[in-house]
Amino acid sequence: VQTVPVTRYIAAIDQGTTSSRCIVFDAAGTIVSQAQREHGQRYPRPGWVEHDPVEIWHRVEAVTRGALDQVGLAPADLAAIGLTNQRETTVLWDAATGEPIGDAIVWQDTRTDKLIAELAADGGQDRFRDRCGLPLATYFSAPKIRWRLDRDPDLRRRAADGAVRFGTVDTWLIERMTGAYLTDVTNASRTMLMNLATLDWDDTLLAAFDIPRAMLPEIRPSSQVYGEARPFGGVPVAAALGDQQAALFGQACYSPGEAKCTYGTGSFLLMHTGDTPTPSRRGLLTTVAYRIGDQPAAYALEGSIAVTGALVQWLRDNLGIIGSAREVNELAARVPDSGGCVIVPAFSGLFAPHWRPDARGVIAGLTGFVTRDHLARAALESTAWQVYDVVEAMNAEADTDLTALKVDGGMTASDLLMQFQSDVLDVPVLRPSVSETTCLGAAYAAGLAVGFWPDLDALRANWAEQRRWTPRMSAAARAGGARRWRKAVARSLDWTD
Ligand code: G3P
Repeated sequence: VQTVPVTRYIAAIDQGTTSSRCIVFDAAGTIVSQAQREHGQRYPRPGWVEHDPVEIWHRVEAVTRGALDQVGLAPADLAAIGLTNQRETTVLWDAATGEPIGDAIVWQDTRTDKLIAELAADGGQDRFRDRCGLPLATYFSAPKIRWRLDRDPDLRRRAADGAVRFGTVDTWLIERMTGAYLTDVTNASRTMLMNLATLDWDDTLLAAFDIPRAMLPEIRPSSQVYGEARPFGGVPVAAALGDQQAALFGQACYSPGEAKCTYGTGSFLLMHTGDTPTPSRRGLLTTVAYRIGDQPAAYALEGSIAVTGALVQWLRDNLGIIGSAREVNELAARVPDSGGCVIVPAFSGLFAPHWRPDARGVIAGLTGFVTRDHLARAALESTAWQVYDVVEAMNAEADTDLTALKVDGGMTASDLLMQFQSDVLDVPVLRPSVSETTCLGAAYAAGLAVGFWPDLDALRANWAEQRRWTPRMSAAARAGGARRWRKAVARSLDWTD
């Protein structure tokens, strides 16, 4: 009797800042189907950004079903589910009922700026870097948890009793799917509460932020079976990674020195640095890249940029000078340069390598000559220059200079931006054939855990170059552009009284 080979797939769920997606992949890492749904952004006060955790869960359920239904697959056709998520965003819920306690405080939210200033006044912004690899900033989870506990003594008491649970979005979704209360090591590394050397919650950090250990999940590897997804036919949930780490994994950056940059609302450049944490003295973050089962963890240096694609949305929504995000390219392509205009989009202060919450956006170099075409071009160029600042810091910190940059994310569709990026960095910029690297990374990590793929070499073999941009700019033009950019950044830093 001949047996028919059963084709199986891996589903990756990407719960991001603005939308949730599910992509189903086959063994070659090719996309079989995908579904995507946005969720609401809540801005209750200036600087505050919130999400409804229940709405997020419903979107995740809908896109997972949607991706399967599209091609007539059943959960039984899946070998595993991998999860990836927006990082740092902080959810609290009732341990007994699973009901959220308030909305999630999103990573972009700056309500904790005073608390951060107070904590930094006593020992400086980098006082916890040796433990957790991060500077004091509103970005991370610990200040967000502390903010909630400080405003509600009853919540603090219940948290100390283990009746309230904290989780980043991975933890929230994994509990909904499997009932297990855990987080992965990459997400834990963004809370500011995990010790990078022990990969466990750190008592000194817990005491400094006054957060009870009883409200924290168990920290687990990124690639491991966590439990069965009850709403999806019991398929094993076999991976969780923060979205930027997942993109690094999907880009097959498995060796020290390999790096990727993901261009979305913000942009995030991560470089694999091997199996010991590399401290940063130049404003980068030291973070966990991934941990596969019981193997040693891999670490990364990260340059996080808060506003890149969000600037294009701002041109569309706040200035109305473009009708769609894509139009920015058409306008920018009408002019040979930005006409001397430079935009620094420090809307939430400046993240890496500056970490200045007080920075504000500037448009510098305006003359009567500047048109909306020049502004569109300056907006795209500001993305490339912000990445340039991060790469400069990365090169100064790592043993070797970056020799090529793998890229992914929505903005890599802009030919003009990618060429300019290669020009200012003076290295080739490479885009892979599967541009959905975040989902691909989560699928890879889940597939490794269940034996769908044998090892990292098999995943590396799946990576293929689809497009390459090589530098064309003269050294003099690059130096001139960098000088103007630095001047504009200096004005942005010098703004708040
Ligand atoms: O650190 C924030 C990052 O994880 C958010 O990524 O793609 O959801 O905006 P994204």
